Amino acid sequence: RQNRNETPEPEARQDFANAADTDPSLPQNLAWGRAILARVPASCLGSDLVRAHTVRSTDQLDDIVGTAVQAGRRWGARSAADRAEVLERVAWNLEVRRADLLEIMAAEGGKTLDEADPEVSEAVDFARYYAGRARDLATVDGARFLPSALTVVTPPWNFPVAIPAGSTLAALAAGSAVVLKPAALTARCGSVLAETLWEAGVPRDVLRLVHLEERSLGKQLIADPRVDRVVLTGSYETAEKFRSFRPGLPLMAETSGKNAIVVMPSADPDAAVRDIVQSAFGHAGQKCSAASLVVLVGSMASSRRFRNQLVDAVTSLTVGPAHDPRTRMGPLIEPAREKLLDALTTLEPGESWLTEPRRLDDEGTLWTPGVRVGVQRRSRTHLVEFFGPVLGIMTAADLDEAVDIQNEVEYGLTAGLHSLDTPEIAHWLERVEAGNVYVDRGITGAVVRRQPFGGWKKSSVGSGFKAGGPNYLFGFGTWESQRHTD
Ligand code: SER
Repeated sequence: RQNRNETPEPEARQDFANAADTDPSLPQNLAWGRAILARVPASCLGSDLVRAHTVRSTDQLDDIVGTAVQAGRRWGARSAADRAEVLERVAWNLEVRRADLLEIMAAEGGKTLDEADPEVSEAVDFARYYAGRARDLATVDGARFLPSALTVVTPPWNFPVAIPAGSTLAALAAGSAVVLKPAALTARCGSVLAETLWEAGVPRDVLRLVHLEERSLGKQLIADPRVDRVVLTGSYETAEKFRSFRPGLPLMAETSGKNAIVVMPSADPDAAVRDIVQSAFGHAGQKCSAASLVVLVGSMASSRRFRNQLVDAVTSLTVGPAHDPRTRMGPLIEPAREKLLDALTTLEPGESWLTEPRRLDDEGTLWTPGVRVGVQRRSRTHLVEFFGPVLGIMTAADLDEAVDIQNEVEYGLTAGLHSLDTPEIAHWLERVEAGNVYVDRGITGAVVRRQPFGGWKKSSVGSGFKAGGPNYLFGFGTWESQRHTD
């Protein structure tokens, strides 16, 4: 394309209109996604599965939970080696279904290829890693692991394959049955994922896929005392809501974030710009791990060159539909949310746009990325999670002030530092309050086993075990001591 960020061709809009006529249940906000989904047979991209697994009544849900508990007991009684073998077949089948998963993630989840492809790889990594951890659980001396019978998994729409895969496979590896309720906005992604697991040998009664017709059914599911544990990835507010449905609910929740990258004068500016852009605008900033703040320290704060380099990098991102291979930043999945809309259109006192977001389509899904400078401490831009393509720039006199700015937010999910100075790095690592800290690297895309993922403070509710880490499976059961005491 010659012009960056131009609006989509009229034919795409026409396709959208046709798609709307064909299947009114398709996502309301992804014009191009709807067009793709409408052209492909429902059986290929999960629509049939969504229909077949939609729960419509309280009795139906009650029955699903009851049979899943029974199936969980049988599954937990199988050997860990047996379960690990099934997970290894899942890893293989995820590779086989990679192309389907990429297509559905683009069409329904708005994910560009460079975001979606590593997401499938992450799901494969989870399957292999948790298979190994299941074997390890069986070999702990002097204690026996007793898996929970039933885990409910409620993943988000922003990682519609890797996150449900990770939570589901961990529970299955530990020996628990799973009721998987994919996010409504990415119901097809979750359904194709479940099918991929069934095809690999996960028994259908051990992994139940449910889409809920009514909100009240969600409350019923969370409140059901036969559910041993709920795994949630979502906002802090949703975690609170779940707890209000059932006091004392055993919850493993990875929640919100408001994450910053600090850039020191010693940093490599090219690497810093690359990592900031990827962390802030990958998947249009719709990640709990995304960078929504940058703190420029000392001489970096007044460097015109650095700012110009950042603006150049941000404005050269091509915005467009997810399935177009030229696209570097895809659509928003929830365009109408007031908080984000506000952040895309309104400045706070002291702020100005380094590059102002522009809306590119009528539906409000495509926006060019925005960067605002002059962000004040304890302002809304500093403290509130927007979950979209808006980056705020703050400044600090020294590293200590920069860490204070990072730690002042009530969340503590990810944090970044760009510095080439070893004592500086050591000092930062000592002080920063976040579950995942990254030096001279982007702050999204934690790698299974190498970078177990999970937050501190209001970014984590419940067990605190980190996904993709050595203890994660412990969250899905209890230990029985086999030592004899007199
Ligand atoms: N694990 C993802 C990341 O690291 C977020 O859920 O970006």
